[in-house]
Amino acid sequence: MLGPPGAGKGTQAVRLSEQLGVPHISTGDILREAVAQDTELGRQAKGYMDAGELVPDELVIAIARERLDREDCAAGFVLDGFPRTVPQAEALDEAMRALGREPLRVLNLEVGEQEMLRRLSGRRMCRGCDGIFHVDQEGVEADSPCPECGGQLYQRTDDQPEAVRERLAVYQRQTEPLIQYYSDRGLLTNISGEGALGEIQERVRSAAQN
Ligand code: AP5
Repeated sequence: MLGPPGAGKGTQAVRLSEQLGVPHISTGDILREAVAQDTELGRQAKGYMDAGELVPDELVIAIARERLDREDCAAGFVLDGFPRTVPQAEALDEAMRALGREPLRVLNLEVGEQEMLRRLSGRRMCRGCDGIFHVDQEGVEADSPCPECGGQLYQRTDDQPEAVRERLAVYQRQTEPLIQYYSDRGLLTNISGEGALGEIQERVRSAAQN
């Protein structure tokens, strides 16, 4: 799943992976978990993440390779937030060839800047079930418990305005070129990421399976 910050990649990737019965692999989730556990990887990644910058390619490529090598990826997987740079895309191509996999399907979620900013400023995550919510949703308020599991909701550090501005600039500079990269290879489908969650889910499912 490709798309700018707040496009709904995480929201839709979870749904798609459940529909397809394959793992959802989010490099952002793996890195946030490492930061929460205060591992060596987390300590190396934290400063970049808080500032809205990308974690260095070599670290993220190693994480992705290790994850894709696991047995539960044999029947497929939904990648969310990786690749994010041309070197990452080239490393993924190489890993796919080494694993003898079919070519990727790249789904690019398109969302306007105003909507993206609205989504990021109101996003809340759950410490219990990793659910993704928004304060505009019924039952989700600043201090309310998670509507799914009762866990604690929190706001991501990188959803503060300064980090969001940096993430958008980083996206335009380093990740947007992947649209051309995958389009040139005939692998890209653009999908409108605006509208009701269920409608987008259907567009994503149909693009992934056709
Ligand atoms: P990551 O976690 O991947 O962040 P991101 O790409 O910036 O994407 P987001 O998680 O912010 O947005 P999303 O598109 O998943 O939207 P969501 O579904 O949550 O990465 C974080 C950091 O980790 C990076 O900055 C970097 O430092 C590091 N990192 C990760 N991967 C890396 C890599 N490969 N290389 C280097 N560094 C890496 O939705 C957003 C909000 O909108 C939610 O509140 C949701 O409820 C709401 N929403 C979703 N859909 C809709 C809808 N249709 N209508 C209304 N609201 C909606």
